[in-house]
Amino acid sequence: MRQSSLVVVANRLPLDDNVAPDGACEWRRSPGGLASALHAILESTPATWVGWGGGVGPAPALADIGTLRLRPVALTEDELRGYYEGFANSTLWPLYHDAVETPVFDRGWWETYRTVNRRFAEAAAEVAEPGAAVWIQDYHLQLVPQLLRELRPDLLIGFFMHVPFPPPELFMQLPRRVELLRGMLGADLVGFQRPQAAHNVAQLAGKLLGAKGADDAILVDGRVVRTGAFPVSIDVTEMEALSARPYVLNQARQLRHDLGPHKRVLLSVDRLDYTKGIEHRLTAYSELLRDGRVKVRDTVMVQVAVPSRERVESYRGLKDRIEREVGRINGEYGRVGEPAIHYLNQPFDRADLAALYQTADVMVVTPLRDGMNLVAKEYVAARADDTGALVLSEFAGAANELEDAFQVNPHDVDGLKETLLQALDAAPADLSRRMSAMRAHITENDIHAWARAYLTALDHTGQLARHLP
Ligand code: UDP
Ligand code: G6P
Repeated sequence: MRQSSLVVVANRLPLDDNVAPDGACEWRRSPGGLASALHAILESTPATWVGWGGGVGPAPALADIGTLRLRPVALTEDELRGYYEGFANSTLWPLYHDAVETPVFDRGWWETYRTVNRRFAEAAAEVAEPGAAVWIQDYHLQLVPQLLRELRPDLLIGFFMHVPFPPPELFMQLPRRVELLRGMLGADLVGFQRPQAAHNVAQLAGKLLGAKGADDAILVDGRVVRTGAFPVSIDVTEMEALSARPYVLNQARQLRHDLGPHKRVLLSVDRLDYTKGIEHRLTAYSELLRDGRVKVRDTVMVQVAVPSRERVESYRGLKDRIEREVGRINGEYGRVGEPAIHYLNQPFDRADLAALYQTADVMVVTPLRDGMNLVAKEYVAARADDTGALVLSEFAGAANELEDAFQVNPHDVDGLKETLLQALDAAPADLSRRMSAMRAHITENDIHAWARAYLTALDHTGQLARHLP
């Protein structure tokens, strides 16, 4: 078997195994920011990606993508429930996102989480060449760094957390807090989106493991684990090029025509997730319509809500509530041929997303908590002419960088209403100044800069980073 000098380990492969309407198997790009970010840097890098293909049963045979070799990990139906839907997405995900939904502590899930983490560690150990760098991603695989170190002490092990790492008082609620912290600190370098996360981990390591720690290094079990913030980003050049493609320009023209050539378009693009603040946003918009401060004859909202984790109870409940609310708003304020909100519960490919970004006068990104939020950065990259306004939650990681957005506390519905109006009514010169400042920032801090910064920090000598595009 071929071994690689760079191995990425993530719960999902960048392609998902979907069943087409006629029952045939088809491959689709996986949803979410992690897949978008890593796919952009690994497409042309000799590496192996260890991950789950999105289905159950024996691991599917997968074609490689360019120089990237895919190494599928199989999950059974029970593992999918206990590991992915259970511990990862019903315990860790809500807890790490400020417990905006109540985390479920089910004692049965832990063993499955550990079993599946061990399987990922074994797969990584198998495909890593001697001395290779292995880069483990996200909360699904928090035990893998330590498990892999036990199997292969020769490896350079990195871990990156795409979601927020919670403050100690929340993390301390976890029944398996010691194992989870020790598991993650099995890495040589642990990266986060925001500096506060590294601070939280240093505090917890002192409290739970008796470690000596600062925000950039922790001494634990006789080893030094380096930590730090590496805010993830997007492929700006790719989004700019995509946005200039004739297909995208035509699509944008068509969308504008279909939505009403003279209307102001508000757009939101989210996975259908309770962390994204969709309900607060709908409340704000509905009240603006109710009070006549926004009118359907001159304004329209487009909400893309991509299906996500649909078998998890809290996601099903959210979908029902959102769909009822959109129906109510359209019923009360829409007119024949003029809905107040276009609601799209379907995934869009990148070209169609780029067309939507170009059509939107105001991009509304108001998560209650988000590790980064790449949609916000994609919107900025797609606005080559410096038009358009970005309304951005203070609780998205992107808020640290996109200071020129119209920032808002999404819990404050009145503040959200005022900010939406401010963005809708802003002067073109103000928008242009804000947009060009934000674009300058993401151009300099794109996905390639992120990968270089992280991998250079992982590999002191910089040998590894030199192989990246
Ligand atoms: N995305 C997509 N199709 C869609 C909606 C979203 O490809 O219909 C992509 C989007 O372009 C972005 C990612 O999914 O790259 C979402 O990442 P983000 O960080 O905003 O949120 P996450 O879903 O990871 O929480
Ligand atoms: C977030 C997580 C990723 C995850 C993505 C999509 O971005 O940080 O790890 O892949 O959401 O969620 P899913 O459950 O469909 O993989």
